[in-house]
Amino acid sequence: MTTLTTGTTSRPGRDFAPFQPVPFWQRQGYLQTHLDFLLREISPTLSRREMMARVVEVISETADTKTFVLRPPRRWQGFQAGMHLPVALELNGVRTRRTYSLSSTPDQFRRHGTVAITVKRQPGGKLSNALFYKLQPGQWLRIGQAAGEFTLAKSSRDKLLFLAAGSGITPLFSMLTAQSGKDIVLMYYCRSPEEVIFALQLEQLARTQPGFTLVIQLSGQHGRIALPHLKRYCPDATERDVFLCGPGGFMTSANSVLDTLGVAADRRFCESFGLHINPTITDAGVAADVVFTRTGLQVKGDGRHTLLELAEQAGLTPKYGCRSGLCHECTCRKLSGVVVDARSGKTLGPDATEIQACIAIPQGRVEIAL
Ligand code: FES
Repeated sequence: MTTLTTGTTSRPGRDFAPFQPVPFWQRQGYLQTHLDFLLREISPTLSRREMMARVVEVISETADTKTFVLRPPRRWQGFQAGMHLPVALELNGVRTRRTYSLSSTPDQFRRHGTVAITVKRQPGGKLSNALFYKLQPGQWLRIGQAAGEFTLAKSSRDKLLFLAAGSGITPLFSMLTAQSGKDIVLMYYCRSPEEVIFALQLEQLARTQPGFTLVIQLSGQHGRIALPHLKRYCPDATERDVFLCGPGGFMTSANSVLDTLGVAADRRFCESFGLHINPTITDAGVAADVVFTRTGLQVKGDGRHTLLELAEQAGLTPKYGCRSGLCHECTCRKLSGVVVDARSGKTLGPDATEIQACIAIPQGRVEIAL
């Protein structure tokens, strides 16, 4: 059978991509660099090459967590509750990037032009410590456009269960304050009362927002997330869409409780901070020979380290953001060989394809265009 199409013509082997002029500011050139430098000197918001947000306010949430209220430039495109924001700082001459969930609401951005990220200081975390100790009102922070798929648009139900641990509350807090009218149970796990982020705001919402139920579980007192907790505080969990956010260990335990309860996998939406490597991969520990083809460097992998870590060990400085598979900043081209997704254990290869270096663990001989 022959299928005819009308309205377009093409000659086999002669298809050309339409001409796309490169906008002036995206061209690499002395003129662009120099003009941008001059504009930045007048005001960082005028830069066309970088997006600079002014720090408007810094709020201490707990002993190790602060909220930074930022005013992005006009060309920042806004966000949906649950998305994350890439940020970068120069630390000892090296640009260090991370992504943080936005903890404010889209409505706050529409009304006041400000957004907020809430950052928990991590032991040994370069950027989180620099933000925590150094960033002050009046200073500037490099940001990117917000991104992410962990949003309420995923859910069609009116009944939701939010499960959070530690700083995993931040995107859920944004979702919670961004909408009203849904029946939401939030179960929030923290080690102690002093570590509860947004404690006052959550209590206030529980008093004033119809349909919102707050359950704070202190692991020192109540233990980690377990089946009896959900049976007691959210007996209709199987009728709800579930949004989960927290560190890897919490996500694993929460998912196993939801499995036992019978909450369908396609009714769960997850966001995890930090890379939680699937133990089946580390147990197997398959060795690797990695060749970075652009630089000619070679390293050995032990089946436990990601390509991003191996590249850094080799002295390369590849681009990255979240280091946990969320932002795609670390995307690079695998030319050949097999890699495993550190989170799911899914194998990718041996063909050439784009991969996220921060979650790819190489196995055998792998060639990467870095
Ligand atoms: S650094 Fe964000 S996905 Fe790899």
